[in-house]
Amino acid sequence: MNRLLAGKKALILGVADKHSIAWGIAQAMHDQGASLAFTYQEEPKGRLERNVRKLVATLGNPEDFLLFPCDVTDDSTIDALFRVIRSEWKGLDTLVHCIAFADRDDLNKPFSQISRAGYKLAMEVSAYSLNVLARAAAPLMDERGGGSIIALTYNAVEKAVPGYNAMAAAKAALEVGVRYLAVELGLSKIRVNAISAGPVRTLSASAVKGLSALRRWTEEVSPLRENVTLADVGNTAVYLASDLSRMVTGNVIYVDSGTHVLAAQVGAVEHRQQ
Ligand SMILES: NC(=O)c1ccc[n+]([C@@H]2O[C@H](COP(=O)([O-])OP(=O)(O)OC[C@H]3O[C@@H](n4cnc5c(N)ncnc54)[C@H](O)[C@@H]3O)[C@@H](O)[C@H]2O)c1
Repeated sequence: MNRLLAGKKALILGVADKHSIAWGIAQAMHDQGASLAFTYQEEPKGRLERNVRKLVATLGNPEDFLLFPCDVTDDSTIDALFRVIRSEWKGLDTLVHCIAFADRDDLNKPFSQISRAGYKLAMEVSAYSLNVLARAAAPLMDERGGGSIIALTYNAVEKAVPGYNAMAAAKAALEVGVRYLAVELGLSKIRVNAISAGPVRTLSASAVKGLSALRRWTEEVSPLRENVTLADVGNTAVYLASDLSRMVTGNVIYVDSGTHVLAAQVGAVEHRQQ
């Protein structure tokens, strides 16, 4: 069978466990023949590393995959990551950015009460990291005559979604980054797009109050009346990584059961009843 990503090398950042959107994307890309590298966030108990190692082993021989620690707030880990990618792979075709963080406190406070430090942290981890990673990936993509950078966003940008607060501001900045990087890197045939996914139950999403209401609402009123799965997001990422999307850049592609076309998002009243 012809596989869409045969011969492509993809670096996936942001697998925390089997519920991670990054894991859905990894599985879809693996099915389509991509070679994969993963990163994990180091923490004292090494739980995330163990999770990623276990998951990677389900795809095949662990030796066929690259695995590195990376914290996007620490330039030295990013430098080390791309040094190894260069020495192992020589080039890179796809970078998948599935990284976001905001303090739970800053998600749950009213928008006007977000702390200065919390706002900065959400911006740095969830938005500025795309700049840093794109800057490091671009020379490696150049080696391959171009590439595809894919980021994950959520539509709390055009519409206010109660409970998203600091992360909404970060996603707005991330989407701006997608457009500016698309313009800049387009000259090197590097495409930059974001997937705006509907609400999915993941570790990070558990910090967002009202996720259940958003998922219920998606089932009840979205055009497709169904919540999106990891595979739905993964398949769109495959398209964006593949040559099928050769002329597609600077976009936010909604994989959200059509929710974004509706006039109203989940109501504040419904959210208050959580
Ligand atoms: N779950 C949803 O409903 C939803 C919807 C739309 C978009 N998204 C986006 O999808 C992406 C993936 O999130 P997810 O929902 O799969 O949750 P997740 O918790 O599985 O993934 C988030 C990842 O970010 C990583 N991360 C956080 N801080 C980091 C740092 N400083 N350095 C390196 N990595 C760091 C975590 O280790 C984790 O692997 C995020 O950008 C998220 O905003 C999620």
